[in-house]
Amino acid sequence: MLSKGTNVSVKVETLVLFGATGDLAQRMLFPSLYNLHMDGLLADTLTIVGSGRSAMDRDAFRAQVRAALAEHLPADRIDAATVDTFLARIDYCAIDAGAGTGYDDLAVLLGDRMNRPIGVYLSTPPSMFGPIAQGLKAANIACAECRIAMEKPIGHDLASSRDVNAQVGDAFAEDRVFRIDHYLGKETVQNLLALRFANMLFEPLWNAQAIDHVQITVAETVGLEGRVSYYDGVGALKDMVQNHMLQLLAIIAMEPPSSVSATAVRDEKVKLLRSLRKMRADDVKAHSVKGQYSSGAVNGAAVAGYADELGTPSNTETFVALKAFIDNWRWKGVPFYLRTGKRMPQRKSEVLIQFKPVPHNIFARVGAGKLDANMMIINLQPEENIRVKVMAKQPGLDRDGVKLKEVTMDVSLSHSFAGERRRIAYERLLLDFIEGDQTLFVRRDEVEAQWEWIDAIRDAWAAVDMAPQNYTAGSWGPSSAIALIERDGASWHD
Ligand code: BG6
Repeated sequence: MLSKGTNVSVKVETLVLFGATGDLAQRMLFPSLYNLHMDGLLADTLTIVGSGRSAMDRDAFRAQVRAALAEHLPADRIDAATVDTFLARIDYCAIDAGAGTGYDDLAVLLGDRMNRPIGVYLSTPPSMFGPIAQGLKAANIACAECRIAMEKPIGHDLASSRDVNAQVGDAFAEDRVFRIDHYLGKETVQNLLALRFANMLFEPLWNAQAIDHVQITVAETVGLEGRVSYYDGVGALKDMVQNHMLQLLAIIAMEPPSSVSATAVRDEKVKLLRSLRKMRADDVKAHSVKGQYSSGAVNGAAVAGYADELGTPSNTETFVALKAFIDNWRWKGVPFYLRTGKRMPQRKSEVLIQFKPVPHNIFARVGAGKLDANMMIINLQPEENIRVKVMAKQPGLDRDGVKLKEVTMDVSLSHSFAGERRRIAYERLLLDFIEGDQTLFVRRDEVEAQWEWIDAIRDAWAAVDMAPQNYTAGSWGPSSAIALIERDGASWHD
């Protein structure tokens, strides 16, 4: 368990889920809630009210949830009696958030529950966050003990994120607002905190004196996945870097927090995010690459190009590579190379820490040649492991000189914790939301610092009229992404 950095420790008794008939709710949220229910982690008193625009009765909605569980959970998690007791918690209320109707019906349905803590979870288009918060306030469903959770994105730039935060903030105080970045719910991302701050081994070297550079890769094999209307015009920078990758970067590079409380961790993350050097028109071409995939093959199957999937040419980037700098004492001069893309050759999220070479090679005179600098590779998904590359002496009598070789110290987390069920990120996040622990949720100042850095890149792109370069689906991005790092004498770890 990461923390009990709780600000609002009262458990909610009612969870109201907006967007309950949508894809995320069906694929992730209901299966996660079911898993928590099955493991006895939800209080008997917890009721879940689904809400969507369609009018339907409770039974029709329960049937929909039943079908979603069957489709999205492994067969061995489905137990008929448990499904029935789970569905018995569920009710439904139609609300048209756009039209602002249905809140009074919700208030009637909630009845006395209105006086006890309610958690409202928004899995809706982001344009609805402000209006829903306001609608809840007007119907008195934003009580002092109520809280609200929102999916990303919060706005589409700094100004709009401030508007959304202000509208939501007018109905719910900041310690009642839970902004979701589902990467923070991933066990392996939380494990970065354990790796850095529960071990003495790495932290003394975690700085510009010992580290040459850091690489963060989040590669996906999927393409548009039918999300045309959302993705086009958004692109990889806003979809992945603004949130998930910057959160990863913050956890990897922040100063040690004094505890794992919500305030301590988020204070350090925001400090780090504010230390990111802003790109400008005069360095954006050297420090960033935009790409868009054309047709190719991924995992042996032919796939269409982005513009073909879309049915029209587009300037949206499906790949981005960045060279970022953190202007503080710890990271002075250390490049952080970030890259993320769709239709890459494999799905992998990985952090690579490239250490500097030893200051003096004592083996040079006895024929050992060049020493490879140490490297630590942290695989976040799909594999969960940590590998450290170190130099070792090859066994032998060394009559022709000492032979040194790079060997790998390999810690497989999946293996070390083989008996533990890997939980869906949303199980953790939903439970923390219900229990009121904000540590793994993004604070307003973090989101705004993230947008500030992203906006600077977008402004610089616009100033130099940067268009995405083509890359073949199934490759590691445009050749200029390779040049971005190779110019510095390093290379991507593919
Ligand atoms: C989402 C993005 O936030 O994260 C998607 O909108 C992306 O485009 C997804 O595919 C990746 O999440 P995961 O958990 O599969 O790495």
